[in-house]
Amino acid sequence: MAEPLLKVSGLHAWYGESHILQGVDFEVGKGEIVTLLGRNGAGKTTTLKSVMGIVGKRQGKIVFDGEETVGRPSDFIARCGIAYCPEERGIFASLNVEENLMLPPVVKPGGVTIDEIYKLFPNLLERRRSQGTKLSGGEQQMLAIGRILRTGASMLLLDEPTEGLAPVIVQRIGEVIRQLKARGFTVLLVEQNFRFAATLADRHYIVEDGRVIDMIKAADVERSIDKLHEYLGV
Ligand SMILES: Nc1ncnc2c1ncn2[C@@H]1O[C@H](COP(=O)(O)OP(=O)(O)OP(=O)(O)O)[C@@H](O)[C@H]1O
Ligand SMILES: [Mg+2]
Repeated sequence: MAEPLLKVSGLHAWYGESHILQGVDFEVGKGEIVTLLGRNGAGKTTTLKSVMGIVGKRQGKIVFDGEETVGRPSDFIARCGIAYCPEERGIFASLNVEENLMLPPVVKPGGVTIDEIYKLFPNLLERRRSQGTKLSGGEQQMLAIGRILRTGASMLLLDEPTEGLAPVIVQRIGEVIRQLKARGFTVLLVEQNFRFAATLADRHYIVEDGRVIDMIKAADVERSIDKLHEYLGV
């Protein structure tokens, strides 16, 4: 089997004195969509932040594209080609759509152009001169995803992109993630919406109490449904 693009082993992470991740192991192959599923507080967001290098302290191994990144600063990690779309979306209220889109620096060649981003998200083209504060939740989410595509990152970390959005918008976000996969992007997706995740992902990792406790392949989801309900408490 080819080396995974991202391989996380024995990852521990802390916020101050709080020891949150207690030995997380998973990997993501190039071009895969992989989800992290788990209950509230399980450590999913902390895992994404740890990959990005934005938690208090990390220990263990995080190898991205052959490069060990634990001990490296977050700007180095971003320049390796990893981009993070946070749960809170982080749209700048005083900037308009296009200004928000242009804000993150390009770290590698080969990023998606502004025109292509507008093709993926026609709503953003219509709203390009609208201020961040004027956008709906769905538009903000599209902007938050669109914004990181320009950077040239090959791996996208998406934290609950469907949270609080209407079904038709959720569907649209799903289509875009599928198109991104087709373009060769690798996606690590955190989701509470398991139905959504199941239609997209190649594999699912279950996070519980700061550890990965199981992995379920897309092909095995159906026969694992009882186990999944138990893990997720849904
Ligand atoms: N900045 C922080 N300082 C201290 N503890 C934190 C901080 N952020 C999160 N935690 C704690 O770390 C644990 C894991 O949180 P995390 O946000 O990774 O969970 P999650 O799986 O993403 O949950 P959710 O589904 O609610 O988003 C929780 O117990 C949380 O209270
Ligand atoms: Mg979270």
